[in-house]
Amino acid sequence: MTIFRTHILIPVDQNTVQAGVFEVKRHLENQLQARKLDQEIKVLETGTLGVVGQGVILVVFPERICYTRVKVEDIPRIVEEHLVKGRVVRNLEHLTLDMKPGVREPYQLGLAREQKRIVLDKAWKIDPENLEEVLASGGYRGLEKILSSSLSPTAVIEEVKKSGLRGRGGAGFPTGMKWEFTRKAPGEEKYVICNADEGEPGTFKDRLILEGDPHKLIEGMQIAGYAIGSQKGYIYIRGEYDLSIRRMQKAIDQARQSNLLGKNILETGFSFDLEIKKGAGAYVCGEETALIESLEGKRGNPRLKPPYPVTHGLWQKPTLVNNVETLANVPEILFHGSGWFRKFGTEKCPGTKVFTILGHVETPGLIEVEMGTPLREIVFSFGGGVRGGKRFKAALLGGAAGVFLSEALLDVRMDFESLKDNKAVLGSGAVLVMNEDASILDMLLSILKFFAHESCGQCTPCRVGTHQLLELADHFRQGQGSEADLERMINVSKAMVATSLCPLGQSLIMPVKSAVDNFRGDFLKN
Ligand SMILES: Cc1cc2nc3c(=O)[nH]c(=O)nc-3n(C[C@H](O)[C@H](O)[C@H](O)COP(=O)(O)O)c2cc1C
Ligand code: SF4
Repeated sequence: MTIFRTHILIPVDQNTVQAGVFEVKRHLENQLQARKLDQEIKVLETGTLGVVGQGVILVVFPERICYTRVKVEDIPRIVEEHLVKGRVVRNLEHLTLDMKPGVREPYQLGLAREQKRIVLDKAWKIDPENLEEVLASGGYRGLEKILSSSLSPTAVIEEVKKSGLRGRGGAGFPTGMKWEFTRKAPGEEKYVICNADEGEPGTFKDRLILEGDPHKLIEGMQIAGYAIGSQKGYIYIRGEYDLSIRRMQKAIDQARQSNLLGKNILETGFSFDLEIKKGAGAYVCGEETALIESLEGKRGNPRLKPPYPVTHGLWQKPTLVNNVETLANVPEILFHGSGWFRKFGTEKCPGTKVFTILGHVETPGLIEVEMGTPLREIVFSFGGGVRGGKRFKAALLGGAAGVFLSEALLDVRMDFESLKDNKAVLGSGAVLVMNEDASILDMLLSILKFFAHESCGQCTPCRVGTHQLLELADHFRQGQGSEADLERMINVSKAMVATSLCPLGQSLIMPVKSAVDNFRGDFLKN
């Protein structure tokens, strides 16, 4: 085995790909080869660091020097100065990653050490395409523990129930209960579906889990399959997520070749296999029944519920649908135990949550923190505060089907229960920050356009209601809206809640009502 004196980690995600990461990496490797350093220095592609707008990033270990916005032309200096002479290249943008707990320095990169990472713990530290590294860093140990100790499926479900894990796809439904319903549903053939459609605007948390640690998702799905009595799983991935699909497929192939997936896994008699299906870009296909229709090869129209997928899902068989982040929590829960998981977060919402921070903040990106972390901390510590020293005006939480919160609620704790108590939702974990100059009316208009476009048109209240709301909101932009129009908007949204077939039509009340209630002035000032 070769012992390397230096490791250079290169995070690869959509942001760094756009910034030219592969070209930089190729130049670095060529230079190392030319100088015969490739047997001393190892270059590794990792998953994301969770930062946006920092260009190509190189992290040099053991010094923990993190160069940002690296260009091809910087490579000769990094090689000559840092890798040969051992001196940090001072005039390139860099910082030292302090790995000690409690150190706030890497905030500039959104890499706060106070983050509690469970699903993303390895995302930027390992090469996700290298199974050996995955195994050496604890991959598949949750599954191995279950299979080697012959823990029964019901005991696995009990452990997940005890952990208090709740679905991270938006609604926060207790995961263990969903597993139990699916296990108890009559039928021999059952399916596990991972919802990786991630169509919610402003949300990219699942993509970075898929890219950063795809084996963790495989392991979570296998454990779910074992628990509910299923031998087949599908990962429904948003079609535009090229890198996620490629990495996920590679991980599936590697797991199969190593007898970690497929028939008779690790000679234990347990069989489970996985297949990837690509979504075609419809927002509504993230809704679990529309997703199932799409998986069956039909147009992705939502089904009337009940019956729920737990009894009548894919091909009308009992089906478990869970979000990527939900499933990625499972291996660690099973390995460490539910008590360990409950140490993080709140009593009713244990564990962590991955948030995407975007909009008018200094350091947009992705963080994983304990459930219940105050919104103020997310915006001002992790997000670096409002960009350019402007005042905070609002945060839109949970994506397009989310809620506008005003400054008065900056201290709200970010967990399902606390937000519900304040008439808000956690949703997909998107936190879009708006400064004092932003117009809530403009933002609502773009949300309404999005919904009018994405409504599947199957039921009248949603098909017509989305357009009515758009027209009403547009009155305000023309300077013609009145108090009566605001009431009409609320009434149309309420009618949609009462009569729409699926949650897409039912959820518009949230952005509409919170915008009207908390930012009335933005509508009537024109
Ligand atoms: C319009 C719409 C879009 C949705 N998109 C997603 C999505 O992209 N990913 C996701 O996990 N859940 C999405 N959901 C929620 C799913 O229907 C479902 O509740 C979720 O996948 C269940 O997983 P969980 O229990 O792990 O949260 C969406 C729901 C609606 C109504
Ligand atoms: S509520 Fe909207 S998206 Fe849902 S089924 Fe009806 S028309 Fe389609």
